[in-house]
Amino acid sequence: MINQNPPTPAAPAALRTLGILGSGKGSNFAAILRAIQAGALKARVGLVLSDNPHAGILDLGRAAGIEVGTIDEPRFKTRLSPEVERETVQRLLRAGVDLVVLAGYMRMVKEPLLAAFPGRILNIHPSLLPKFPGLESWRQALEAGESETGCTVHWVDAGMDTGPVIAQERVPILPSDSPESLHARIQEAEHRILPRVLAKICA
Ligand code: GRF
Repeated sequence: MINQNPPTPAAPAALRTLGILGSGKGSNFAAILRAIQAGALKARVGLVLSDNPHAGILDLGRAAGIEVGTIDEPRFKTRLSPEVERETVQRLLRAGVDLVVLAGYMRMVKEPLLAAFPGRILNIHPSLLPKFPGLESWRQALEAGESETGCTVHWVDAGMDTGPVIAQERVPILPSDSPESLHARIQEAEHRILPRVLAKICA
């Protein structure tokens, strides 16, 4: 007998929508896109925002057909004013973003963004936190005479690179390393670890 009313297949789980904030060339964003294209990361990118109108990350987003935009904040260099951060939140929400990724975003995140995405903002940092928070961590590690450094993916809180660590990858420091060569090797590790963490969160 033919079943006239076959059971409805379970609806596929909704794809997580990522919102990317970045200030630079966007190589971590490119790694995220590669993971999505390869099917390893089940997510979509809804919006890419940069506080630097000339950032390469915006070109990468445009080339991938993703909505991009700039955050205009002439008053401060290391954070957004509350009004501009609230407007940034609205843009992320309008794009359907439910997970925010700081991919080379060079400003502190404040209350409006933290409150709108509680426990849903993560950051990639080029050191083994809690060692060497802040700027140019690879240079800090080199100047401190360390034999290894690495990178960290962590949840974002109100501190500077202080939120709970999700994953880390170690990178040895070679006697021949310059700040640039060390940063380049740390970035290779970043491009492995960030998509992997995202894939687990979005699975
Ligand atoms: C990365 O080293 C990241 O750890 C730091 O900023 C850099 C961004 O690089 N927060 P890119 O723009 O993703 O290439």
